[in-house]
Amino acid sequence: MSPQAAAYFLGGAADEVTLQQNRAVFDRYALVPRVLTGMRHGSTALSLLGRPLAHPILLAPVAYQRMAHPDGETGTAMAAAALEALMVLSCQASEPLEDVARAGATCRWFQLYMQPTREATMTLVCRAEAAGYEALVVTVDAPISGVRNREMRAGFQLPEGIAPVNLQGLPPAPPPEGSNVVFDHFMAQAPGWSDIAWLHSQTRLKLVLKGIMHPEDARRAIDLGADAVIVSNHGGRVLDTAVPTLLQLPAVVRAVAGEVPVLLDGGIRRGTDILKAHALGASAVLIGRPVVEALSVRGAQGVAHVLRLLRDELEIAMALCGCNALEQIGPELLRQL
Ligand code: FNR
Repeated sequence: MSPQAAAYFLGGAADEVTLQQNRAVFDRYALVPRVLTGMRHGSTALSLLGRPLAHPILLAPVAYQRMAHPDGETGTAMAAAALEALMVLSCQASEPLEDVARAGATCRWFQLYMQPTREATMTLVCRAEAAGYEALVVTVDAPISGVRNREMRAGFQLPEGIAPVNLQGLPPAPPPEGSNVVFDHFMAQAPGWSDIAWLHSQTRLKLVLKGIMHPEDARRAIDLGADAVIVSNHGGRVLDTAVPTLLQLPAVVRAVAGEVPVLLDGGIRRGTDILKAHALGASAVLIGRPVVEALSVRGAQGVAHVLRLLRDELEIAMALCGCNALEQIGPELLRQL
């Protein structure tokens, strides 16, 4: 990767406190192993929004993957399919969403940023429906870009030939009114809860809200018909010093009270991290940076390798903690340091 691309893919907002803490908080939990347990017929299988999955490791939406490697999103989708991993395609993908869906049968969730006009949003939704996507993952935690100092210092710009191709040619935004850049320009076009309710009424696709951190927001999402929520702080790329996701997970899980699945992302780097997230109530997890790092090193093959490692590590962690199914992973396996 060029230093500029690395600043984009690996960096976080401001001082990168949240980026670091997302990862570090996993080490504040210690596992209590169990011994002499029969492990035959063990499995990581689950069912998520009506779809059977071999394991709970999803690929998080990450923009501009052709900047990491020429294989791009289609390469990632091929690897995801080979490793039976559900992939979420970014709204800011660098390849057409139809091509990526064709490349990998497990690329079936489309991440949507609500667009400045409903017409533009519906253009994307209709394309996703027609291409066979099964769920819209609406990212709600980034109505405005974070303070990305690492990118600024590196002088990051999208290289020529890399673009958010699915957003090209959409109906334009209305001109901003008012003089405050943050509140009148960027946030004037930011979606609200009523837009989520509207979207829900416009599509037959499942609706997942990504970037939910507050228990009351999780309740509101469910009341508006969300089929799942993702506890996420965008991998520490938006609001620096935002609470690490694993720390916030139990409060959201309590508020959701089993009504819909709660997923988590941020800082997952090992199979033991996945087990810990599950022990605290996450039905599944999403992986961001490890996927694009692997893509940059060895294209689709690299992504497949990372997914294989994580699957193996999760199985090993489960076996050593006496769990031969995800349902057996509970909070009693964890001690807080
Ligand atoms: C992201 N993420 C993201 N999320 C989203 O909803 N739409 C997007 O287009 C992107 N783009 C993006 C680019 C890059 C380079 C990164 C690192 C992340 C956030 C992503 O889906 C996920 O929430 C985090 O990456 C999870 O944290 P880890 O696994 O990277 O620590």
